[in-house]
Amino acid sequence: MSTSVHPAVKVSNHPLVQHNLSILRDKNTSTEQFRATMIRLGKLIFMDATVDLPTAKTIVETPITKTECKILSPNVPILIAPILRAGLILSELAIDILPSASVYHIGLYRDEETFKPVTYYNKLPSTIDYSVAQIFVLDPMLATGGSAVAAVDIIKKLGTKASNIRFVSIIAAPEGIQHLTEQHPGIQIYTGSVDERLNDKAYIVPGLGDAGDRTFGTV
Ligand code: PRP
Ligand code: URA
Repeated sequence: MSTSVHPAVKVSNHPLVQHNLSILRDKNTSTEQFRATMIRLGKLIFMDATVDLPTAKTIVETPITKTECKILSPNVPILIAPILRAGLILSELAIDILPSASVYHIGLYRDEETFKPVTYYNKLPSTIDYSVAQIFVLDPMLATGGSAVAAVDIIKKLGTKASNIRFVSIIAAPEGIQHLTEQHPGIQIYTGSVDERLNDKAYIVPGLGDAGDRTFGTV
């Protein structure tokens, strides 16, 4: 259940997405409630992002008869790539939904003065065929897009096409969408909201503040 504001962006218009977003945006939401809400909301958006995963036919024998069923294609590896730190809150729910996926942690933080991403951790699984893998990059916030572009740069160097990469976020800024889609045409972005703009500290307006700090209680 989603609408598109840009050909590469799917914004979920599910009422539960809107409801849970309003809890996340509220500055009085506790860390405990913030985390639980992030997980609930993340699941709804992640379901949208997995809607076109490739499937294969199989025959299953029910207690009554044999029948043709569909399963996720066994020949297509799935990779979940959370951007640390805030992306971690989305990776647990993604693994729950896609239990056979591998996880590729990418450590990036935004320099507070330049707003440019700094890479500090890169733990990629080496057993994956990156040329066919379907990859979900997870980060609640797409602000300037610097972190997202840097993460996708790293993944594409492994041999993955942008069209096999989905960026899953909770809130996106127009500036981040433009930057990510210009640098990586073909990528799909899934989000709960496209907000108005960035402020002079490159925070999303109205946004929800610092996603990592609010998730991990380091405000
Ligand atoms: C936040 C967020 C994204 C990044 C988005 O991380 O989780 O990774 O900012 O901003 P951008 O689109 O302008 O790059 P942050 O740098 O605060 O690190 P943290 O998750 O470790 O707190
Ligand atoms: N990172 C965040 O956590 N929040 C923003 O609004 C922008 C970048």
